[in-house]
Amino acid sequence: MRLTTLLGAIGAVSPRGPVKPAELGGLAIDSRQVKPGDVFFALEGTQSDGHDYVQMAADKGALAAVVSREVPGAAVEQFVVPDTREALALAACEFYDHPSLKFPLIGVTGTNGKTTIAFLIRQILGHEGIICGLLGTVCNILGPDRREPSELTTMQAHEIQQKLALMLDYGCRSAVMEVSSHGLDQKRNYGCCFQVAVFTNLTPDHLDYHPDMEHYYRAKSLLFESLGKQGRAVIGWDDPYGARLAKGIDGPLITYGERPGSSVRIVSWRPLPVGAEVELEVFGKRIGGPVGLLGRFNAQNIAAAVAAGYALGIQADSLQRVLPILEPVPGRMEPVEAGQPSQVLVDYAHTPDALEKALKAAREHTHGRLICLFGCGGCRYREKRPAMGRIAVGLSDLTYITSDNPRREKPEEIVGQIVAGAKEAGARQGKDFMVEPDRRAAIFSAVAGMQPGDTLLIAGKGHEDYQILPTGKIHFDDREVALEALKEQGYCQS
Ligand SMILES: Nc1ncnc2c1ncn2[C@@H]1O[C@H](COP(=O)(O)OP(=O)(O)OP(=O)(O)O)[C@@H](O)[C@H]1O
Ligand SMILES: [Mg+2]
Repeated sequence: MRLTTLLGAIGAVSPRGPVKPAELGGLAIDSRQVKPGDVFFALEGTQSDGHDYVQMAADKGALAAVVSREVPGAAVEQFVVPDTREALALAACEFYDHPSLKFPLIGVTGTNGKTTIAFLIRQILGHEGIICGLLGTVCNILGPDRREPSELTTMQAHEIQQKLALMLDYGCRSAVMEVSSHGLDQKRNYGCCFQVAVFTNLTPDHLDYHPDMEHYYRAKSLLFESLGKQGRAVIGWDDPYGARLAKGIDGPLITYGERPGSSVRIVSWRPLPVGAEVELEVFGKRIGGPVGLLGRFNAQNIAAAVAAGYALGIQADSLQRVLPILEPVPGRMEPVEAGQPSQVLVDYAHTPDALEKALKAAREHTHGRLICLFGCGGCRYREKRPAMGRIAVGLSDLTYITSDNPRREKPEEIVGQIVAGAKEAGARQGKDFMVEPDRRAAIFSAVAGMQPGDTLLIAGKGHEDYQILPTGKIHFDDREVALEALKEQGYCQS
């Protein structure tokens, strides 16, 4: 692509007049990854400012730099724009030839449920024979048998457009992506044209990034401003923020929830020994039956995915047929089986609301004691730690407080903040909790202490196969470790 075409697409001006004709290589935001011929975009971040790296980009052979203020003396042609994040997103749309205009793109946002709903939507479309790509927390799926690990729930703007373009190359006829509030606030999916936008719920989290819930809400609602002309909003309005958002939608709106008047209404949810039974009303038409997902909160997620399917033109009959074959999502209420007379569930709950929902859901599938094992991530929203301690002790019969991903923080300090909340609830209800900062040791001791009929909920890391310690990243998978612990108790996978 010619540099002039790209500059035209982002409305960039050169302080030095007409631009020399040149073919550009690619787009870059990290000066260390600049290749000769690339255009470097200087983004201002919370930790660093790309303007400080314009010279390094020049040294690496950048063809040009897009900046929001000129960097004096840098040996590369600079083009000034009001907002380099917006410019990067628009440039990427142009560079990858607007892939989001070429197939239905579904965006899912909200504090919890994004990954689960994205996976369910992909399954519903797959059942219709529509190959659907996926971008999200657990992995990126670019086409049949083209799965790759994922670093961020919502990747950078140029990466999003690149992946969407690859999906088209690999035969996808639709795509679903998780849209985080960080991604929205930083305009990573700016320029994407969404045919369907889904809102799940909004509860306290990421308030280390957003100054308050209002800012967090506003960031989430941005997704609904990037709905295309025919775009449809799908909103979970049992959630107060969802109800507020629904009021502000002037285009086509599909609501879901238990509330009377929901377009997709949750009529009932009944836990079964394995899975559950759900009944929904889709625009007045009843569908329902057994589903392979555990946990009452999944009634909301299934209703959201069904509503999104409906928004894409899939009829209730077809939605009825796909319900019984919906598969659970990796690391979300995922059972670990070794023939033991008790239940071990691995879940990704890492917010107060998610832990509360996961524990209440697990309680419905428990005949004996409910045991909870969890920690909290380091260098993340600290205020949620005592709250999660209170919830865990309050809703389970026995709690193990351990480490999650401490990152650069001292594991003992994080555990101490959780214990503060746990003590409060424990004192109130005369309940006990154990502290074991070593996650592996905690899982082994929890499993060793289980009795027939008990349920152990191992929360917080879900699908992750690593642990980030102050000393670095190690391989750690809750499902593998739980299986090893069960084997040590004499059980074995059949
Ligand atoms: N609809 C829901 N309401 C509340 N909690 C939920 C809901 N769906 C899932 N959860 C809980 O939240 C956890 C995370 O679910 P999921 O991965 O689908 O959310 P997410 O929004 O993708 O999270 P993240 O922002 O970390 O990517 C689950 O393991 C479960 O405990
Ligand atoms: Mg996710």
